[in-house]
Amino acid sequence: MPIINRAAGLKDEITAWRRDFHANPEILYDVHRTAGIVERKLRELGCDEVVTGIGRTGVVAVIKGRSNHSGKVIGLRADMDALPMTETTDVPYASTIKGRAHACGHDGHTAMLLGAAKYLAETRNFDGTAVVIFQPAEEGGAGGLAMVKDGLMDRWGIQEVYGLHNMPGLPVGHFTLRPGPLMAAADTFSIGIEGYGAHASRPHVSIDPVAVGCQLHVALQTIVARNIDPLKCAVVSVTMFQAGEATNVIPQTARLQGTVRTLEAKIRDTIEARMGEICSGVAAAHRAKISLDYRRGYPVTVNHERQTSFAASVARDVAGAAAVDTEMTPVMGAEDFSYMLEARPGAFIFMGTGPGPGLHHPAYDFNDEAIPAGVSYWARLVETAMPAA
Ligand code: NI
Repeated sequence: MPIINRAAGLKDEITAWRRDFHANPEILYDVHRTAGIVERKLRELGCDEVVTGIGRTGVVAVIKGRSNHSGKVIGLRADMDALPMTETTDVPYASTIKGRAHACGHDGHTAMLLGAAKYLAETRNFDGTAVVIFQPAEEGGAGGLAMVKDGLMDRWGIQEVYGLHNMPGLPVGHFTLRPGPLMAAADTFSIGIEGYGAHASRPHVSIDPVAVGCQLHVALQTIVARNIDPLKCAVVSVTMFQAGEATNVIPQTARLQGTVRTLEAKIRDTIEARMGEICSGVAAAHRAKISLDYRRGYPVTVNHERQTSFAASVARDVAGAAAVDTEMTPVMGAEDFSYMLEARPGAFIFMGTGPGPGLHHPAYDFNDEAIPAGVSYWARLVETAMPAA
C-alpha cells in the first residue's frame, strides 16, 4: 500500500497550513497563535474531543474509530515550536518575525499531523481511538515532559505513542529508525573557577584561572578518550570559556560551560562522576576553587523493540521496503519525545525531506514534497495498529 490517495489530495491544503506556520514562528511555550490554529482546525475537523492547555500550551484531540472493540488507544505526537534564530531563506512565506525561525521543520510536523487528523476524522476506518498530540517547547523547554506531567498518558489512556521528525539529506519518501537508543541524552555543565587575581606582570602572586581553565579543558577531553569504551559513544564539548577583561590583569575568575551527550545511562553516570573528580583534582593541583554545576537535560530517546518493528512495517507499507532503513546510526542530538517514550512504549522515526540545508541551519526550510509520505505514515499507522472489523 503506497501513499494514500487522499493524503496526496490534501497536500496543497496542508502545504498552505505549513507555510502559514512557517511565516509566523513561535518559540518554547509561547506558541499561542500556532496552538490556537491547531485547536480551531481540530474542532472544524469534527474531532471527538479537543483539549488545550496540556503542558501549558499543548493541544490534544481524540478521534474515535468507527468501532472500538479493540479498546486500543494510540498517541501520535507533533511539535509546534520554532527556534530563536534568524532565517535567511528568500521564500515568499519566510519568517515575518526577526530572530524566530522554523529551522527544525516543526511547522511541517504540525501541518502533517493536522492533515492526518483530517483524514482520520473523515474516514474513521479503524477500530479503537487515535489521540493526536501537539506539544510546545521541544527545543530546550521540555514541553513533552510538561505534557506527560499534566497527565497526558493517563487522562486519555494512551497505550502506545509515536513520533516523527524530518531528516534533510535522506531522500523524500524514505524513512529511517532503529530499536533501542536512537538519540542522545543532552546534559549541560557550568564550571566556575576561582583563582587569585593579580597584575599580569606578577603571575607568581596569582592563581591564574585561565591557566587552570586550560588544564581543565584538556583533562575533560580525557574522559571520552580514556574512560569510555572506544566502541561506545559519548561527547564532552566545552563550548564556552569566559575569563578576563584586560591585557594587563590576571583575572580572579573564569567559567567553562558546555554539553555532554550520551546514549547509555551508565556512560552518563561515568561522565558526570569523572567530571567531578577532575574538577577536584585540577583545583587541588593549582590551589584554585572549582565548582561544577552539572545539569541533566533530555534523557536518551529509546525506541521500544516491538513498536519499532511495527512502525518500520507501516513505513514499508507506505514507502516500499527499499526506502526503509531499520539500522539507523544513532545521532547525538536530543529530542524530548524521549520523555513520552519513558512514559509509554512507542517509536520515533525519521522521514527524508531530500537535499538542502540541515536542521537548525538559517537557510533550512521544510520540504513540502514530503507531506504525502508523512500523512500516509500517520494514517496507515492508526489503520494498521487498530484494523477496522
Ligand atoms: Ni526538531
